[in-house]
Amino acid sequence: MSKKVLAVYFTQTGQMESIINHFTGPLEASPDITVEKMRIYPVQSFPFPWTSAVFFDAMPESVNGTPVELQPLTFAASHYDLIILGYQPWFLSPSIPISSLLQHPSFKNILSHTPVVTISGCRNMWINAQEKIKKRLKEANAELVGNIALVDRHNNYASLVTILYWMLTGRKDRKWGIFPKPGVSDEDIAGSALFGETVRDHLHTKEWKNLQENLLHQGAVNIKYNLMFIERKAGRIFLIWSKIINGSKKRSLLLVVFKYYLLIALCIAAPLILLVDALFFKPFLSRRIKQQKEYYAGVTLK
Ligand SMILES: Cc1cc2nc3c(=O)[nH]c(=O)nc-3n(C[C@H](O)[C@H](O)[C@H](O)COP(=O)(O)O)c2cc1C
Repeated sequence: MSKKVLAVYFTQTGQMESIINHFTGPLEASPDITVEKMRIYPVQSFPFPWTSAVFFDAMPESVNGTPVELQPLTFAASHYDLIILGYQPWFLSPSIPISSLLQHPSFKNILSHTPVVTISGCRNMWINAQEKIKKRLKEANAELVGNIALVDRHNNYASLVTILYWMLTGRKDRKWGIFPKPGVSDEDIAGSALFGETVRDHLHTKEWKNLQENLLHQGAVNIKYNLMFIERKAGRIFLIWSKIINGSKKRSLLLVVFKYYLLIALCIAAPLILLVDALFFKPFLSRRIKQQKEYYAGVTLK
């Protein structure tokens, strides 16, 4: 019997759209699979390119998961055999449009008792956002069966410069001709078709149990210890900042302070903390670190 797939995503630059197109290619080529693609739009769109002030202004609501109104969602079917959710993290949380989607009653209805594969495209920090998505999916009674995390593989500091350049100018080229191109590489975007093939094979049998394991063998997720370490700490700190900023009368001022705090934390404090960790803690925690990496690479929720 024909299988119905919904591939729903948000994108500003088109990066996630390109990922979704490549990823769903093998499914669309299968005669017994119908893929319905749905790009979501907030009623009030976020600017692209961003100004620095508006970019940082998205932090508190991203972290708190405050929903915004979306343009009407229309689904061709009332139930799907698989939902593919393409998203991007904003400030270590699902982007505001995606967290709005996950809280939308009609989407929650569609999610109920349905297998879901998540695919993200980001700079390099997606773990916290994925944990939040796992929770939202569980609340909607959906079953997360697979996850693919596409990242910018360049050095953490180079990609920090290039993502800000891209987001604040709208240009996805090499800053000053020196820095690498921002975002997920064209090869990795095109390569997501390989993961699509694996998902297609599992969809044919409707046997989801080993999907994530098979995706991991293909390199769908690559967790680097230093990034995981920084992200876990930063996730907790962002939560505190968002609580302080939300509802404050000094919001604009606090956001400027947050911006400089973030740059100092990432460029100065993080390397020092990582050094202390590497000398005094990491060598004695290898089992725990391995377990953490396995957990974040998986699809279960603690
Ligand atoms: C407001 C904002 C915050 C972002 N925060 C993160 C982040 O926490 N981690 C990360 O790896 N990438 C982050 N990014 C990059 C996005 O995840 C994404 O890669 C980029 O916006 C392009 O996605 P799109 O064109 O598909 O929307 C952020 C981008 C924006 C606009």
